[in-house]
Parts: sequence; structure tokens; C-alpha cells
Amino acid sequence: MSNLKIFSKDIIVKDKRVILRLDLNVPIKNSNIDDYTRIEVVENFINELIKNKAKIILISHLGRPKGKVISSLSMKPIFHYFEKKLNGKIYFYKERIDTKAIDASNKLKPGEVLLIENIRFFSEEENDDEIFAKNLAKLGDIYINEAFSCSHRKQASLHNIAKFIDSYGGPNLEKELKSINLIIKNKKKPVTCIIGGSKVSTKINVLSSLIKISDNLVIVGAMANNFIKFKGINVGASLVEQDVENSVKNINELAEKNQCKIIIPLDCNVSSNSGGDPTYKLLEEISSNDMILDIGKNTINLIRTIIDSSNTVFWNGPAGYYENKSFSKGSISIAKKIAENTKSKSLISIVGGGDTIAAIKNTGLERTFTHLSTAGGAFLESLEGKELPGIKVLKRN
Ligand code: 3PG
Repeated sequence: MSNLKIFSKDIIVKDKRVILRLDLNVPIKNSNIDDYTRIEVVENFINELIKNKAKIILISHLGRPKGKVISSLSMKPIFHYFEKKLNGKIYFYKERIDTKAIDASNKLKPGEVLLIENIRFFSEEENDDEIFAKNLAKLGDIYINEAFSCSHRKQASLHNIAKFIDSYGGPNLEKELKSINLIIKNKKKPVTCIIGGSKVSTKINVLSSLIKISDNLVIVGAMANNFIKFKGINVGASLVEQDVENSVKNINELAEKNQCKIIIPLDCNVSSNSGGDPTYKLLEEISSNDMILDIGKNTINLIRTIIDSSNTVFWNGPAGYYENKSFSKGSISIAKKIAENTKSKSLISIVGGGDTIAAIKNTGLERTFTHLSTAGGAFLESLEGKELPGIKVLKRN
């Protein structure tokens, strides 16, 4: 990481226009922000820049509007939130990125903030358009990428912009990169990775990479159904992915070769529909109408024991269908055990991914981990060893 340009307190920002690329891609329902985690992690830094009398230009995307203006994906609710929370005056800019935008950024007084409307309302953003990136760069004197979670996207405000302006990584981006090293390079063994979610096919590469660096790989969530099925056990009406037998076989073989233990659920909570109530079952008791929607008590105990024997735990992906509270017990139990050991046994814990954060929302556990990553895809791609486009451009020449 020493070869990356990271923003430091020695860089004078007073009176300078600072472009801050954030990931304010938060869930919004009926114009109300449903989860503040991604905003909260960057708030202190914005206030620090305000205190240091920078003129701040905030850029983010929200959802996937594909170059069209979609009112439900406007940054307006975030603007209203910032109006109340930031220590400086904030303006909202909804027009094109042209001389008018440059004027608006030039008019800012020290300690004031300009929030640009959803940058993906412009098709040039996703096309990584050079002219658009050059115009964006004209809004500032320096650029800070504080959106690690978007840095796997080769898009104008993350990638090409850095060609035209003095560019740095922000403090949260630096923290995310350091936490990856806690799993890959500077790891304290034994290392346990707990991976959930629904699709083996999207996580196959990361599973293969994790096998090489961890002692235990715990597979939970709907993804585990494929591993249960592979053992010849009936999974009833549970979600399974088609044509992944070979992937599952390869993962099992790779794990054996690398002496990484694969742990899959021993028991579960099922229902005939995702909105139903849980019925506890051992795997061999699953009937044709049953959908596995959470891990069972024996699996929770087994995972707790594995966490007890670990010095580093990485967790990404919920253990069950947490959207129905009745099936969030597995995820919350995992979170509680990781939090407990982080506090009492100095376990290094890295927890991340949008769904994982959503599954443990309102439990108050979010702040107890060594690192709570707000990144999903970007974090997993980094663990696979890929160089992210938005990080590559922050390298020193
Ligand atoms: C995310 O939610 O992971 C980031 O904001 C990136 O969003 P994207 O997957 O739409 O590029």
C-alpha cells in the first residue's frame, strides 16, 4: 500500500476545492434512508475537511439508473440528511457537469459543501468517458477517493478522473485496504472465513482464494444448500443453483489439497415459504415442501466453537433469509460471537458486505468488529487478488 497516494493531514486543504468521491449508495424507501452505515463512515471526514476550511464537492452514485434521470434515485434525501448533520452549509447541484458546475464549485466559500446529483444520471459516468472525467476534475483542485466499495468499477468519477487531477485515497479507503491485508498478508492464524449468500457461481473465485489462506471455510446461506445436496442429502424446495456440481466438487478437492476444513450446516430451520414460521429440522428430516431458510442450533454451536479456536475471522454473507426476522437468528448469533471474542479475546474480525450489514442492523454490534467493511464486490475482488481500477489510478508514478 506504500505505493499508493493516501491523503494525509499534511496536505493543506484550506481554500482548496476538494472533490470527494463517496459511496452514498444507501437503501432508500419512499424517500427515506433505510440504512445510514455508508453515510456514517464518511461523516467525520467531511466534517474534518469543513473544519479545515476546504471547499468540498461530494460525488456519489445511487443505484443503477443507467444514464437516465430516475427521481426515486435522486440524492435529495441524502442532501436533506446532510443539511441537518454537517457542520457546514451545503448546496445541491442538479445540472450538467459543464461551466455552470465549475462556477458553482468556484462560488463555494471555505467550509461549504456542494453535493452533486446522482452521477450515474449521466451515461458518461459508466462509460468512463474521458471528456466527462476531465470536466469533473475541473470542479476541484484535489480529488480524494473515499469510495473503496465502488473502486472495482471502471467509471469516470473513480477511474479516468485521476488522469486530470492530483488524486489520493481517503482514510476509509485506506482502512479497507489495511483490513484486506489482515486476512491475506499479516494474518494471525488460525484464520476462519464464513461465507454466505445465495450463489456459488458468483463466489467461486473468492472461495478458491480463501481456501488457500484459511484454516476453516464455513459455508452458510442458500449457497450451502448446493454443498448439502452434493453430499446426497435431500434439500426439499430449498434454493439451489443449477449446474454447479463441478464447482462444488472442485472447491472440496482444493480444500483437501490445501488442508482447509470446509464446514457446512448440520441442521436448519425450514418453512414452506419465506414469509412463514421456522420449524427446526435435522438435515435428514427435510421433506419435499421444506425450504431451508436458516442454520439450526447445532450449526450455530459448531460455528461458535470454530470462532473460539480462531485468531482471525472474516465474515461475508448472511447465514439465512434474514429479511424475515424469524430466520435471522443464525446471522445474529454469528455476529454476537464474533463481537464477543473481538472484545474479550482480541480476535481480529473483518465483517462486510451490504447484506451482512443489513442482517445485523439495529443489533448495535456494528461498531464492535475490528473492521466493518461497507464494501461487497470490491472487497471480494481484492481478496481474489484482482487490482481494482479505482485503486490502480492512485498509485505513485
Ligand atoms: C455497492 O453497493 O456495492 C457499490 O455502491 C457499487 O454499486 P454497483 O454494484 O451498482 O456498482
